[in-house]
Amino acid sequence: MSVNDVGQGSPILFVHGFPLDHSMWREQVADLSRDHRCIAPDLRGFGQSTVTEGKVTMEQFADDLAALLDELKITEPVVLCGLSMGGYIAWQFVRRHSDRLRGLILCDTRAVPDSTEAAANRLKLADDVVRTGPELVANTMLPKLFSDRESNRRSQLKDELRRVILATDSRGIAAASRGMAERADARPWLAAMTCPALVMVGEQDVISPPPEMSEIATALPHATFRVIPDSGHLAPLETPQPVNEAIRVFLAEK
Ligand code: MLT
Repeated sequence: MSVNDVGQGSPILFVHGFPLDHSMWREQVADLSRDHRCIAPDLRGFGQSTVTEGKVTMEQFADDLAALLDELKITEPVVLCGLSMGGYIAWQFVRRHSDRLRGLILCDTRAVPDSTEAAANRLKLADDVVRTGPELVANTMLPKLFSDRESNRRSQLKDELRRVILATDSRGIAAASRGMAERADARPWLAAMTCPALVMVGEQDVISPPPEMSEIATALPHATFRVIPDSGHLAPLETPQPVNEAIRVFLAEK
């Protein structure tokens, strides 16, 4: 697993969304590494990490993260900050490695599983992407990642993410798609997730909209809910300043 490991202090483990890599967290790592150890890996099949063909489940990704902490000799509990697919993985991390966790930051993610139709679409996408390459997934995902506000910075971010996606191994994209298609319903688990949580969502997120994330925050016993203005699904990259502030407040209060 390739990992960006920067800074010193209590550890924060950043788990990226689909089909991206660790670089989506760069604004958080740049800020928070001044007083925290920021660990931002590329998940199996993404960025510079090794690819597994077939399917990678959310459970497997969660176990990979625990193994990474072992490898880095991090024994103290971490704050896990996951976006979207990173949140799906976070649910499994809580269930399988809760002793390694001291807080959860859930950005733009969902607790509901895929509908039958959504799962079928993902399986089709997985097969198609292996045949035709990652451009297909770039074209599907990019229009959904940011708010509808136009700016040079947003255009640059889209271009940059297109490059990240086009450089990703199609087999890694397919394997994660198949894993997401069969992910479990996390809603029944939320009430038992007692660690402090920050639930954050871009106000224009069309993939995991604010009302759905508000339900997650309500179901978690110790959660704070924040809506980030002028932002879509990738709030940490689109509007880093309020996201970083919310994270700092959460870390200070915990
Ligand atoms: C992500 O950002 O990780 C994706 O939107 C997750 C998904 O496709 O459900």
